[in-house]
Amino acid sequence: MSSSVEQIKSKIDIVSLVGSYIKLEKAGANFKGRCPFHNEKTPSFFVSPDRGNYYCFGCQAKGDIFTFVQEFEGLDFLGALKVLADKAGVTLERFEKGEKTEKDRLHQVLEQTLFFFEKKLSENPPALEYLYKRGLTHDTVAHFRIGYAPSDWRQLYEFLLGKGVPADDMLRVGVIKRKDGTVDSFYDTFRGRIMFPINDSSGRVVGFSGRILVADDKSPKYLNSPETVLFNKSEILFGLDKAKTDIRLKDYSILVEGQMDLVMLHQVGITNTVASSGTALTAEHLIKLRRLSNRIVMAYDGDTAGFSASNRSAQLALSLGMDLKVAQMPIGKDPADLALENKGALIECLKQSKHIIDFYVDGLLLRGLDTRELGKEIFQHVLPYVALLPSTIEKSHFIKSIAQRTFIKEDALWEDLKRVGVPDTAVSPEVKHTEIHSRVGSIERRLFGILMWQKSSSPPTIDLVELEEKIKHILGDRFQKMSDDFEKEKDLLLFETESYYNGTLDFVRDVTELLSSLEEQYLKKQFADTMVLLQRAEQMRDSALVLRYLEECQNISQKINTLKHT
Ligand code: UTP
Ligand code: MN
Repeated sequence: MSSSVEQIKSKIDIVSLVGSYIKLEKAGANFKGRCPFHNEKTPSFFVSPDRGNYYCFGCQAKGDIFTFVQEFEGLDFLGALKVLADKAGVTLERFEKGEKTEKDRLHQVLEQTLFFFEKKLSENPPALEYLYKRGLTHDTVAHFRIGYAPSDWRQLYEFLLGKGVPADDMLRVGVIKRKDGTVDSFYDTFRGRIMFPINDSSGRVVGFSGRILVADDKSPKYLNSPETVLFNKSEILFGLDKAKTDIRLKDYSILVEGQMDLVMLHQVGITNTVASSGTALTAEHLIKLRRLSNRIVMAYDGDTAGFSASNRSAQLALSLGMDLKVAQMPIGKDPADLALENKGALIECLKQSKHIIDFYVDGLLLRGLDTRELGKEIFQHVLPYVALLPSTIEKSHFIKSIAQRTFIKEDALWEDLKRVGVPDTAVSPEVKHTEIHSRVGSIERRLFGILMWQKSSSPPTIDLVELEEKIKHILGDRFQKMSDDFEKEKDLLLFETESYYNGTLDFVRDVTELLSSLEEQYLKKQFADTMVLLQRAEQMRDSALVLRYLEECQNISQKINTLKHT
């Protein structure tokens, strides 16, 4: 395996790899671009072809081709290794000593399940006919690996059992359920359903969404896999693995609601489409999309509640500084219908998409309200969105355009804007959290990796007791739990660390830097938390509390400053 890592490293040039994800330009001996790991306008992300690594001066993200793919695609080390091996045309020998990580084993259970569903579809004419009747072609069915779960209680369970899969693994990936009140009586989760595999962004199956073939009034139309170790619903977007390249290329994504919508749009060649699968978009979803492009066009049914004024996904997108447009489908049609009936009309509809704020204003204008009512509606349902825009230039752009179309004076709108509360759900500290969290995760991973790796080398190159003490000092109570968690994937972590440092002594210097970044990140997180509390206290006009949090914020920021100057 080590040799495959070397082979991959020698075959893949970091500049062309990173360049295939983000735009890079030459800057002396290096290349630079806008960092894909945090939101920035001016490039502070540098790639060094000589050293084979990257570094961001804005968020301190750094690493090599492996960490880049890991972080960008949201994969673990093994996943990134597979993606890169594929690009380099290197065949991977099995993981050393034939060991497999647990996730790998579970992936395989899902892969076997998928194979079963595909096979069952080919044996079930009514299910196939249903798909063809809905306009899917044979190629599309194969491309998306659509399958069928037979209308039976235990066919999948028995099939997997026959392949030697323990029931416990089947339970853990959510394809069977335990019968209530029993220990060892199980049944298939999906029965009588058309099965859509849900993939992670690298294309590995992590879960399923099943559409009922013959509707009854007891079962839901769509049933999704439960959340599992592989399937994190707040992160996975349906179709992203097939859409990511085109999203980057076209520089916008199209967001639809349903599985069928997604599949049909891809079938007619609109391949920069992803689906939210009927759930609300989370900050994690949006951050993933934003790494590919800042622009989203929502194409929901003409008649869904997706556009209600309390649309949290829209609020989040705007507060993340994304450009969010809405393409309105004709009433009673969803994008799948339109793609099938009239692709030209669908494309026209996408072209006519409007910024979400203009979309709301136009909706209100159509209602023929009198000036006073209109003003009230604008205040309640439109200005809160304007308030979310991080840029003042954009705010003033929309205030102008609202004024022009509603004949409400600009001054009055600005006055009102001051009085609207930013919707509670969309406060950006919360979003910043998730970004900070994920960086913290990778620093911790590297530090624990070094700790474990050094513990296993004799003699260790660094003072282990000292390192452990320092990590404990920063993590406090969290140390033990984290240590236990990392211990579970020890082999992988060792391997990852070893191949990262690859016979050099770079880690000695890195340790100091990693420790201080970790401390800084924790302090920043604490700062963000306290800021949220401070905002609340201000809203409640509790001056004693305000004072306390202010003081706390000052303390934390002082600590951050000292850290930076030592
Ligand atoms: P729709 O009810 O609009 O279904 O739900 P659809 O996409 O038009 O489905 P078809 O065309 O009848 O097959 C939109 C999306 O909401 C989710 C699914 O992801 C679905 O695609 N949904 C819907 C559920 O998760 N559960 C349900 O019971 C219904
Ligand atoms: Mn539909």
